Amino acid sequence: MTETAQQETVEEIDLTAANRVIDKYIDMHGSLMPVLQGIQEAYGYIPEETVHLTAERLNVYASQIYGVLTFYAQFHLQPRGKYIVRVCMGTACHVKGAGRIAETLKDRLGIEHAETTEDVKFTAEYVACIGACGMAPVIMVNDATYGSLTVQKMDDVIKKYQAMD
Ligand code: FES
Repeated sequence: MTETAQQETVEEIDLTAANRVIDKYIDMHGSLMPVLQGIQEAYGYIPEETVHLTAERLNVYASQIYGVLTFYAQFHLQPRGKYIVRVCMGTACHVKGAGRIAETLKDRLGIEHAETTEDVKFTAEYVACIGACGMAPVIMVNDATYGSLTVQKMDDVIKKYQAMD
């Protein structure tokens, strides 16, 4: 990213919500976790600029915050899509064609593991067994599970979510 592009990204982020979250927890002992959770709830991820704001206002090092953010899988440093498409890559799903399902997703939406579409509507995540092996191959879109997938069925699922807001 060029310096100008980075500045533009930073300028686009409104820190009001982050300041509000920090105000709420600032006097609390052990405020870092609830602050980060609150910021993620407000923005859907942890924008870089809010890390620096939090460091400044809670008087901790930004490196300490990044340590927490990378340790806990619940935190995301990049924007994530409204619809998280988890493609199971466990053994049963792999044997039944998870690769084809992941390929279909990549082909239709242009995203692979950990990538998000430009409109921030979809994020792909390849995951280990999600416990529905009897229905392999399986995907989840947010909390909804879709099993016994074929390329055609996968297409239908993608279209269904594309048509939604
Ligand atoms: S391997 Fe995919 S659900 Fe178990």
